[in-house]
Amino acid sequence: MVSVAAHPLPTSGVTGAQVDTPVLNYACRLRCPGQGSLTTDRNALRATLREKFPRDHGQLLPALHYLQHEFGYLPGWGMEVVGWHLGIPASEVYGAATSYSELRTVQPATHLLRVCTGLGCRIAGALDMLATAEVELGVAVGGSTSDGVVTLEETPCGFLCGMAPAIEIDGQWRGRTSMDAVRDIVREWRR
Ligand code: FES
Repeated sequence: MVSVAAHPLPTSGVTGAQVDTPVLNYACRLRCPGQGSLTTDRNALRATLREKFPRDHGQLLPALHYLQHEFGYLPGWGMEVVGWHLGIPASEVYGAATSYSELRTVQPATHLLRVCTGLGCRIAGALDMLATAEVELGVAVGGSTSDGVVTLEETPCGFLCGMAPAIEIDGQWRGRTSMDAVRDIVREWRR
């Protein structure tokens, strides 16, 4: 059975102007590997879903968030089990999974770098920062390095507009960042 015993969302400190921001669920696996049991047993997952989520259409998003918390992303077979349990067609489950930027259907690399491309960050140079990260990593936005170390994504506003440009590193938001900082982070990861 899948264990999600006490695993509260961590909060992150942001260097410079400090802000505590809840970390997105998928970051739990990235930052705290092994906390989810990562079962691949459909029956066990279904039993756990039955315990945690009433068979109700409104439970779709909570169940998907739970799945992502456990696996770091939404594996296809897991979404199928969610659909079985809630009585929701696979197409609708997949549609929901791909409609929210905080949910992912592709397994991320070990590290996840997301650059905010909301308006405030664009004005502050986020697109240049994103281009720098693409060059440093040798991947286009949405891709992962061939060594599986870094996934690069853009993200909508992280509500740190007052500290733009902002990036998210393995689930932790950092404001008032710079192209040099992005370069340093990437080089450190790839060492
Ligand atoms: S626009 Fe980037 S944090 Fe709001």
